[in-house]
Amino acid sequence: MGGLSIIRQFENFVNHLGIRQMICSPYPPAGLSIVDEVEAAKQAAGVAACDFVSDGMDVGLGTGSTVRYTVIELGRRMNDEGLNIRGVPTSIDTEQLASSLGIPLIAWDEVDRLAVTIDGADEFDSEFHLIKGGGGALTREKIVAQVSDAMVVVTDPRKDVGTLGKFPLPVEVIQFGWEVTLRHLQEMCPGVASRRGGAEPFITDNGNYIIDCNFGVSITDPVKLETDIQGIAGVVEVGLFTHMADAIVIGSPQGIEVRIKADGRLA
Ligand code: 5RP
Repeated sequence: MGGLSIIRQFENFVNHLGIRQMICSPYPPAGLSIVDEVEAAKQAAGVAACDFVSDGMDVGLGTGSTVRYTVIELGRRMNDEGLNIRGVPTSIDTEQLASSLGIPLIAWDEVDRLAVTIDGADEFDSEFHLIKGGGGALTREKIVAQVSDAMVVVTDPRKDVGTLGKFPLPVEVIQFGWEVTLRHLQEMCPGVASRRGGAEPFITDNGNYIIDCNFGVSITDPVKLETDIQGIAGVVEVGLFTHMADAIVIGSPQGIEVRIKADGRLA
């Protein structure tokens, strides 16, 4: 049985539980493991975020295990309900998923603005600032988010933090001189900064490395840190997304919570 079939089966199961319709009513019933609960929460958030998408929209399609459910649901709505959208993927993984579901993809020379991008996050704070890049797709994700009229984040409560930084901050750097770029990052970072993958380095879709910077719970000024890191030669992009997210859809065992930024583009 293919992976998609398993996801569909799980999706049907979750739908059977009524999660899609449920706002703030408890799930899942006794008997689901913690892993299943987290997965159900991710799916509930991913599916709920599709309500920000309407017919005719061009949509940024994020990367990760939560937004994967969004992409699958958008594909389902296109096939079953006649939803008509086009997508711009933020990674090769998402491109392959969207294509397999029949979601038409737009070439960059056809993109003017996207109506919305939906994406995951590794951490978010009360100001709607994000750490992203756990999957290494941060640069493409930021390019897509920047050309979008709104950004919706799909996530779960584990990622809701007072101060950003417990999740190691991903920074994409070019391979040339990466050791020096790492040293510059290390000077700014109170904890260890290291190349992802160690001796067998992780290579991004853009052919670059990721340096994970352990700031710890210390990023009290993410806007300044984003600018400071962007100022280092060799840095392609940093996984701080400040003043970009407009809504956060949080799936949890208590239901779905949708937070809309008061002065954001969806308020
Ligand atoms: C990928 C990302 C992801 O959106 C982020 O890591 C969250 O992923 P998941 O939903 O799997 O926890 O930024 O670069």
